[in-house]
Amino acid sequence: MRGLVIVGAQWGDEGKGKVVDHYARRAEMVVRYQGGANAGHTLVVDGHKTVLHLVPSGILHPKTVCAVGPGCVVDPRALLGELDALAAAGVVIEPERFLLSERAHLVLPVHAAVDRAREVAAGRDAIGTTGRGIGPAYEDVVARRGIRFADLGDPAHLRGRLEALLFERNLLLAGLGAPTFEVEGLLEALAAVHARLAPFVCDVGRAVADAAARGAHILFEGAQGTLLDVVHGSYPFVTSSATVAASAAIGTGVGPRLLTDVIGITKAYCTRVGAGPFPTELDDAIGERLRAAGHEFGATTGRPRRCGWLDLPALRYAARLNGLTGLALTKLDVLSGLEAVRVAVAYQWRGRTWDELPADPAAIREVTPIYETLPGWVGDLGGARHLDALPEAARRYVAFVEEAVGVPVALVSVGPGREALFELADPFAAR
Ligand code: IMP
Repeated sequence: MRGLVIVGAQWGDEGKGKVVDHYARRAEMVVRYQGGANAGHTLVVDGHKTVLHLVPSGILHPKTVCAVGPGCVVDPRALLGELDALAAAGVVIEPERFLLSERAHLVLPVHAAVDRAREVAAGRDAIGTTGRGIGPAYEDVVARRGIRFADLGDPAHLRGRLEALLFERNLLLAGLGAPTFEVEGLLEALAAVHARLAPFVCDVGRAVADAAARGAHILFEGAQGTLLDVVHGSYPFVTSSATVAASAAIGTGVGPRLLTDVIGITKAYCTRVGAGPFPTELDDAIGERLRAAGHEFGATTGRPRRCGWLDLPALRYAARLNGLTGLALTKLDVLSGLEAVRVAVAYQWRGRTWDELPADPAAIREVTPIYETLPGWVGDLGGARHLDALPEAARRYVAFVEEAVGVPVALVSVGPGREALFELADPFAAR
């Protein structure tokens, strides 16, 4: 049995969807363990693009069981829309193949309303959230006023829970000058949600533990990225959940010994959406070029992503936090055609050198990256299916990253299509 965690090693959008889809054919189950519909995982299969926000990226493999774990926050309207879109594309979702945790919390319209009203009120200090209500929904989890799928079956109980939640949330919305919410409309909408989703609702942790006990391979699918982790990321410009690999155990409801391997996904460069520090950001023609060549626009919000050079101090930090056993290097093809490729190998700030991302808000904002310049390469890498098929400078780049981070590269992705990648090591191979 292997429990393989797939985690974003940067600020999200590293290409986790494609990597999970790739490994999913060797796993019996894929479980999402945190986040909600703020994530956007784009899969390109036979030229057809599917964007998933909540359903795990293993769903396109007919035999893989996909689960949304108790660590996630689920907007039921977004989930139903996704299930409908998948059904329209011929992907039939039976309850044997899609599991929804009874302990997962719901993201309600009131959460999105609070998220947006707050961002507007924050003005220039806004976080640049996705506006999907993720932060307010997680606040309600720890404030003990959240609504879980387990709460939907008993209307009288649900009414009491909703009244308590709306009492607090409406006070805030009124204070922000935004429209408030009524219990009645929500109760009705949630009855319809219950009618459709109840067949999928179950104890996900138990299902995963049972599969593992039979010797099945499990994939744990992370969302966002390490540097957006609520504790370890570039706080306060972070998401509201624990994105790091250890969160896979809590967010699924299994013990940490089931997490046997951790693959960190990193682009061959860096991107970030929303506000917050980004030491290697490029505000020039090269940044523009990366954005255009890499189609760097948010899968959830369509916002242009900020682009920059690969940041090794940040990646080293991610390797340590996640206990990475392998790296998946994506979008290597996007760097093709550059005369030289730069990589930040350390930071400097006030006479001090840093080899990992600092926590001090002034330091992280003001550090100067120290770059190493590597030779560039030309040509379309999209057809490469082996390391030897890459130009020598691209091979050197892969080796440089591996050496500098101290983690072996297990997979290289060279284009958006499902087949445009190759493996250097099989994480499921017997050891
Ligand atoms: P929230 O998760 O919507 O609260 O947004 C908080 C921060 O996380 C913002 O900077 C978002 O742009 C960022 N973020 C949230 N989800 C993703 C994602 O899936 N990819 C990249 N950035 C994300």
